[in-house]
Amino acid sequence: MSDFTSNFWSIYIAGATLLGIFGCLALLWISGKTKAMTASDNTTGHVWDGDLREMNNPLPRWWVGLFVITCLFSLAYLYLYPGLGSYAGSLGWSQTGQFDKEVARGNEQSAPIYAAFAGKSTEALSKDPQAMAIGDRLFMNNCAQCHGSDARGSTGFPNLTDAQWNWGGTPEQIHASITNGRTGIMTPMGAAVGTAEDVRNLANHVLSLSKSPHDSTRANLGRDKFVTCAACHGADGKGNQALGAPNLTTGVFTHGPGVEAHIVNMINNGKTGVMPAWGAKFTPEQLNVLTAYVWGKGGGVPPAPAAVAAPAAAQDAASVVVEDGVVKFYFATGKAEIAAGADKALAEVVAGVQAGKKAVVSGYVDSTGNAAQNEELAKQRAFAVRDQLKALGVAEDMIELSKPGDIDAGAGAQARRVEVKLG
Ligand code: HEC
Ligand code: HEC
Repeated sequence: MSDFTSNFWSIYIAGATLLGIFGCLALLWISGKTKAMTASDNTTGHVWDGDLREMNNPLPRWWVGLFVITCLFSLAYLYLYPGLGSYAGSLGWSQTGQFDKEVARGNEQSAPIYAAFAGKSTEALSKDPQAMAIGDRLFMNNCAQCHGSDARGSTGFPNLTDAQWNWGGTPEQIHASITNGRTGIMTPMGAAVGTAEDVRNLANHVLSLSKSPHDSTRANLGRDKFVTCAACHGADGKGNQALGAPNLTTGVFTHGPGVEAHIVNMINNGKTGVMPAWGAKFTPEQLNVLTAYVWGKGGGVPPAPAAVAAPAAAQDAASVVVEDGVVKFYFATGKAEIAAGADKALAEVVAGVQAGKKAVVSGYVDSTGNAAQNEELAKQRAFAVRDQLKALGVAEDMIELSKPGDIDAGAGAQARRVEVKLG
């Protein structure tokens, strides 16, 4: 329990404490024994203002008695409880011990209540009045100081009751936000955008995305500069929940009002928003209740249908998935059209390119059909992906088209693909 590396301070403090107590007792004893020189009229002989004289009476008995009791009490206390240096006290009591005991007792009492919630879906929990009463208390005590007691947030702290989610509004995503925390990072972009005028023009273009009041001449001039933002906010400005980059088309702004000055400030200075992690503080049941509470506040999105990514590739349709940082584009038979959602899937690659890496694009085909035709198709598909990257603002010399040693990746839809990774 001691924070010190040696015993010295413990002994020093204990010594000083005991010395103080015994010193008091000694002083009382001595002052009770000795009698100062007195004048014949029981005064000390000190006189002020002509006739104000200091009497030489002994300390009142009751006062001495109380003082002695106080000293004895402190000795007994220091024997039983921690207080003397690092000595833990004969009772073994500690603050953390008491706290843990109370928490354990509380958890024990609430266990049957939470047991009733086990196995319930977020949606069901959000309709359970008892669960929501508990959720309300948990939220008031832990979340309201940042998100507001009505969960509507304030400048810098997101509103949790609307449909705008930076990190996603499904039960899984909200649960992950609460359990692991979130850090949204927008780097300062002023220099990448250009001059102060460029930044103002771009800011007006951003405002135009949500039809907020803006200067349309400037917005037109600024449109092209949005490529610097597309890596995170998407080419259409609709955001990217994997990066916590907000949707800029809704007119809902967390960090300031929807006016030019705010957007200019965001572009020039960037922002890092931190939502603390709560996984260690709450039990899994409490995390579920909190998730349902937030989800049920009005903005909750229904759970994602299970397994959206993989099976799509099994059908003969284009799709795109991200696996271990590699973006895989699948194509319909004989086609080179890119699936929807490419911008989002490529966001990390684009961000990586901005950090100085190259985007490496490789095309594969399946083994059906004519080899020469297949090779041409693989090339067309790789070009289509390259063009997509260029549309997202990646310079051509940062894209490397790399022909795999064996472009034939076997049979089936999984084989007809173009992979993009950072090199
Ligand atoms: C590296 C990824 C990244 C890039 C590039 C980026 N942003 Fe952001 N942006 C974010 C993130 C993440 C947030 C949310 C910050 C937070 O969570 O506190 C954000 C927030 C914002 C906001 C504030 C929204 C609000 O709710 O108030 C604006 C406006 C904005 N970005 C505009 C831009 C513009 C314009 C550009 C291009 C110059 C740009 N961003 C480039 C990631 C990015
Ligand atoms: C210290 C302030 C603070 C506290 C306390 C806090 N949050 Fe947050 N929370 C934030 C910030 C800031 C963000 C935005 C993070 C970012 O920049 O992306 C956030 C984001 C979130 C999000 C994601 C919102 C989105 O748009 O995807 C959820 C959900 C959330 N908080 C729930 C909670 C809950 C539940 C609690 C209480 C257990 C809580 N927060 C406590 C500051 C806080």
